[in-house]
Amino acid sequence: MTSIAEAWRAASQRIDRLDARLLVENVAGCTHADLIAHPTRPLSADLLARLDALVKRRAGGEPLAYLLRSAGFYGLEFMVTPAVLIPRPETELLVNLAVEKGRQLPAPNIVDLGTGSGVLAITLERLLPEATITAVDVCSGALEVASVNARRHTADVRFLLGDWYSPLGGERFDLIVANPPYVIDGDPHLQQNGLPFEPQTALTDGVVGGDGLACIRVIVGNAARHLRPGGWMLIEHGYDQAAAVRDLLHAAGLSDVASWLDLSGVERVSGGCLR
Ligand SMILES: C[S@@+](CC[C@H](N)C(=O)[O-])C[C@H]1O[C@@H](n2cnc3c(N)ncnc32)[C@H](O)[C@@H]1O
Repeated sequence: MTSIAEAWRAASQRIDRLDARLLVENVAGCTHADLIAHPTRPLSADLLARLDALVKRRAGGEPLAYLLRSAGFYGLEFMVTPAVLIPRPETELLVNLAVEKGRQLPAPNIVDLGTGSGVLAITLERLLPEATITAVDVCSGALEVASVNARRHTADVRFLLGDWYSPLGGERFDLIVANPPYVIDGDPHLQQNGLPFEPQTALTDGVVGGDGLACIRVIVGNAARHLRPGGWMLIEHGYDQAAAVRDLLHAAGLSDVASWLDLSGVERVSGGCLR
């Protein structure tokens, strides 16, 4: 019978060694320490076949997070399926900024537009326990994943299905956060690095020949109608969209408009306040 160490070695010939190790651990239900301490532990034929199928999918470019059904964000583990975008490390900037604004109020009312796997809403709920958190997505499959993640992290989040602000009626918030789709439809990057496996409705605004800002225009353009006085809108955008998003924030009547750099030094989040 094949041992876990042999299975790891064989998988490493076909895909990245670390990916191979994580898939072996996932299939065998063991930790890295088990793999090192008990390398001769056998893997049944069934599990070996499962591993083989996963290695094939990884070799075909499918993101590891979908194969493991798990991704890390802000030090927490979240379930991810192909119904949701895999959370990106640069989005942690949005959490830091939102926490900074949210801590200035005793009990902020916060909405996360386009919640996907729920990472923003759930992380904010944990970091701002006095906040009331709502999360909206147009994709019911995404909301199912987000609800599982909320239960996993015992986060009290109200999930609403619908198009941006439409399920919110006339409700107003102290903080609106959003990481909407902003990649230009047809951008060659959409064909690279596993992006074809992610939901295209999470990545692009679907406007052929557009500038990628269609969703941002709707979200920013309607922010003033959903912010309380003194409330902030914070929105993630593409590496070259900050100036355009600041213009949209000014045009929407928001003040104190600014952009913030992510860890790569890229203007990644912009925001403004309703005075
Ligand atoms: C870039 S993903 C962000 C997911 C998550 N917030 C994150 O940061 O990882 C954008 C999300 O917006 C959702 N979305 C797209 N169009 C929408 C719309 N019209 N109304 C609400 N949500 C929408 C997508 O389903 C997707 O989950």
